[in-house]
Amino acid sequence: MSERLQTAIAAAKKAGEYIESMLHRRDELTIENKDINDFVSEVDRNAEKMIIETLMASHPDDGILGEETGTQNLDSENIWIIDPLDGTTNFLHGFPQFAVSIALKHKDELTIGVVFNPASNELYHAEKGQGAFLNNKPIRVSERTTLETALIGTGFPFRDFTYEDNYIGMFRAMINKTAGLRRPGSAAMDLATVACGRFDGFWEMTLCQWDIAAGIVLVREAGGVCENFVGEDCLESGNIIAGPRGVVDEIRNTVEPFLDGTLKD
Ligand code: IPD
Ligand code: CA
Ligand code: CA
Repeated sequence: MSERLQTAIAAAKKAGEYIESMLHRRDELTIENKDINDFVSEVDRNAEKMIIETLMASHPDDGILGEETGTQNLDSENIWIIDPLDGTTNFLHGFPQFAVSIALKHKDELTIGVVFNPASNELYHAEKGQGAFLNNKPIRVSERTTLETALIGTGFPFRDFTYEDNYIGMFRAMINKTAGLRRPGSAAMDLATVACGRFDGFWEMTLCQWDIAAGIVLVREAGGVCENFVGEDCLESGNIIAGPRGVVDEIRNTVEPFLDGTLKD
């Protein structure tokens, strides 16, 4: 395990333990609205601060792209992409599906992904070329190749409704083709759930880099693929389909009729 992966795991555990300790003290929190249905509390901010302090203590020259604090030193070869609490709405309601998500981009390539759900004590990690692991045990994406018997994760619009109609069309088509759809509410966890084969696939639109960067490494190292709606890179696009090759192709074919405009980027 590389030194940076060890540091990322230490940072995720530290922040995750803090988040878990605040789960039962939620009534003491000050909750702000960043935007419609976009909540943030001191837990998100403190967790991100802890993560950055831990990473910087060992790798002071690395850059940061963090959801709550923005960017620093983006000229570095090594950029950490951080979502300190993915699934904030779940956390604020005590619904135990949320995670710390930390990824490393080295020279424009995602190389490390760590996702930690402190409520279930599940820690996922992956490093390029080394496989993916859940609590240190190797994981693989599902062996399903078609949608017919597949359980598929998704996320629907709840802040920006620009693509609401597109999504509803996709949703209708997908419920008719799959064994079931689920919307747990944390994209980082959704991708981890694909990486360990509990979901056969996942799709969502207009996500941010910090929602998906770590999960992308997990899925790829677990033998799956992550692409946008036209089979290209999904990190910057934020439109993502993930899973084993065959399932990803079937999801793309199913949602394709409902794409327009920037959904094709
Ligand atoms: C959100 C979660 C959710 C997804 C949203 C994200 P946050 O992240 O990943 O599943 O549907 O688009 O923004 O705001 O809880 O960190
Ligand atoms: Ca997020
Ligand atoms: Ca977040």
